[in-house]
Amino acid sequence: MAQYDAIAEAYQDSKQLPFRKAIERYTLFEALGDVRGLKVLDMACGAGFYTRLLKRAGAAAVTGIDVSAEMIRLAEREEARNPLGCSYVCRDVADLEPEPGTADLVVAMYLLHYAGTRDKLLRFLRVCRDALEPGGRLVGFNDNVMRPPRGTVSWRKYGLEKTGPLSAPNEGDPIHYRFTNPDGGQFEFHNFFLKPETYDDAFREAGFRGFRWLGVSLEPGERNNPFWDDFLDNPPVIAYAATK
Ligand SMILES: C[S@@+](CC[C@H](N)C(=O)[O-])C[C@H]1O[C@@H](n2cnc3c(N)ncnc32)[C@H](O)[C@@H]1O
Repeated sequence: MAQYDAIAEAYQDSKQLPFRKAIERYTLFEALGDVRGLKVLDMACGAGFYTRLLKRAGAAAVTGIDVSAEMIRLAEREEARNPLGCSYVCRDVADLEPEPGTADLVVAMYLLHYAGTRDKLLRFLRVCRDALEPGGRLVGFNDNVMRPPRGTVSWRKYGLEKTGPLSAPNEGDPIHYRFTNPDGGQFEFHNFFLKPETYDDAFREAGFRGFRWLGVSLEPGERNNPFWDDFLDNPPVIAYAATK
């Protein structure tokens, strides 16, 4: 059973937390620019939150892939209720063998930190590279490996806490997340720490150019709101982009 099968509904509810819209969604779509007409793969699509937004933003075709059968069930249920033409596949991204040029754009929101080893990260990245047309981009979010938590660090007012080792983390150390949803419900999961230089090397070795961490940005309407200062000073998650 995949880690997210037991928390799929709670994870979907966490998309109501204010940071999801004001920072996560805003930063992603700023990074993506115009997606109209693009063929998109949404790797680790979860319940299809971004899959659907990408299709609504005008992508020609969007396929979501996730290893959690429950996440895919929720995504397909939403597609059945409100059809947009998104399609979904339940698979481990590492097992995919995409046809070259399947996608103009690969979105990977919180996939890469499920690699607990450099080899697994490289495998994820090679799959993304193989899927892309030359010049196509890989854009996503990740745990902020530049600022691993020492022990427990709270972003409680935004709905999350993270726990890492008390000393500097080693490759593959788990980073535990605990979310508190707007309705007070809590859920937990873990991903894995790899060093920033491991990401740099793996992107290069997989054949990407211009890999960089993009940081996070706040939607313009919130920029005078001091509520966001702590998040922006120490972002728990971070966007990145690279080009094939
Ligand atoms: C934090 S959730 C993000 C879901 C979605 N991208 C979003 O932003 O709403 C991480 C997702 O990654 C999926 N996942 C983890 N490892 C995976 C793998 N090896 N292949 C495919 N999906 C994976 C999980 O099942 C989960 O749905």
